[in-house]
Amino acid sequence: MGCGTGLKLLPLAEMGFSVVGLDNSPQMLSVFEQKLNNAKPRLKEKVQLILGDMTAPPINRRKFCLIIFGGSQFLHLSTDEQRLSCLNNSRCLLADEGVIVISNSNLSQKSEYNWTEKSEQLNHEWILQAQGKWENGAYQENFKLIPTSQMQQEYLFGWRLYPVKDTHMKNLIESAGLRCVTLPSNLPMPQGRYIYICRNNI
Ligand SMILES: C[S@@+](CC[C@H](N)C(=O)[O-])C[C@H]1O[C@@H](n2cnc3c(N)ncnc32)[C@H](O)[C@@H]1O
Repeated sequence: MGCGTGLKLLPLAEMGFSVVGLDNSPQMLSVFEQKLNNAKPRLKEKVQLILGDMTAPPINRRKFCLIIFGGSQFLHLSTDEQRLSCLNNSRCLLADEGVIVISNSNLSQKSEYNWTEKSEQLNHEWILQAQGKWENGAYQENFKLIPTSQMQQEYLFGWRLYPVKDTHMKNLIESAGLRCVTLPSNLPMPQGRYIYICRNNI
């Protein structure tokens, strides 16, 4: 959900999984398309891109074993109505044993939120650029505000993010008929993120 330019989805396709990427930004999807056009034809066959809103995904009669909100996509939603609609619709797309993975930045720990707000005030002439890498088993992210003219599409963060407290997030997940699965304690966790792994509770 909110696949953007495919930063998280392309590696899964490269591993051999068939993936569907949904995003409501034609610009982000066109960067994804360009990447696919430059890739091997076999990779292109693995990826389907859909322009649409994740609060009402235009996908019918299909079930997925994994649905990913891999980079704070959920924090783009500004109201509980949108959040519940997004979670409910995602649950309807889930196969019986499927899981939904939601990765949210812990905005209270970062200046990311203030920066995206600032970017909006500056009419998006400046955007927040995020760059992440794995280091010693943990995912490290660095953020900086850069002129839009210098942006690298891959790490574009031009949007306003709306923080959702951990307890509220868990309530929303439960209200949408999902339940959180406990994470294995030996999993290397990205720093400054809340990860929710959910299954259908119905
Ligand atoms: C942080 S970016 C994801 C970056 C992505 N990992 C990449 O490879 O570029 C969040 C994405 O969510 C998308 N998005 C935000 N709100 C959305 C919505 N309501 N429906 C679908 N996509 C949405 C944005 O267009 C953006 O591409």
